[in-house]
Amino acid sequence: MKDIKIYYGSSTGTTQEIAGRIADKLGLGKDCIKDVSNLTKEDAEKADVLLLGSSTWGSGDLQDDWYSGMDTLKTANLDGKVIALFGCGDSQSFGDTFCSALGNIYNALKDSGATFVGFMPTDGYDYSDSEAVINGQFVGLALDESNEPEKTDERIDKWMSELKLYL
Ligand SMILES: Cc1cc2nc3c(=O)[nH]c(=O)nc-3n(C[C@H](O)[C@H](O)[C@H](O)COP(=O)(O)O)c2cc1C
Repeated sequence: MKDIKIYYGSSTGTTQEIAGRIADKLGLGKDCIKDVSNLTKEDAEKADVLLLGSSTWGSGDLQDDWYSGMDTLKTANLDGKVIALFGCGDSQSFGDTFCSALGNIYNALKDSGATFVGFMPTDGYDYSDSEAVINGQFVGLALDESNEPEKTDERIDKWMSELKLYL
């Protein structure tokens, strides 16, 4: 198996918990999961696959810890790496910026030389707008633990089946 690292930014623990669930489902140990505030350039460059998770705050913004994390990642050589995105939002209270942080990360790193995988259909979601939707698909795994927690496991499994080829 390749070297897979999961970096998450999470203010109230929701995305952190999801990072743990993803690691469990992939059979990865806890040492693969890191808070993005601890991200180093060297660590990111060692990985083959980066699973990057952020909740969305403000009005479609990255989770706070991602600002420094993104600055670090932008200095790293990501050429040839595989990146997949996941994140939590609230499609009812913030329906016009639902999970937009994923779009933020994608736009910041799309020209980095990394290959983005794990794009997901928007079917079954109830939101009005999202920067995470590009060419009609979410650029990663969008989750809504506030309103649709019962859909989370199935959504993670579908996303992971998209990633399987690259892990
Ligand atoms: C002040 C505030 C702003 C938020 N802004 C958004 C938003 O723009 N889009 C969205 O999808 N969710 C938004 N959310 C919902 C959070 O992303 C959601 O509760 C998420 O599960 C938090 O995950 P975390 O605990 O990992 O940070 C917001 C929540 C709060 C309290």
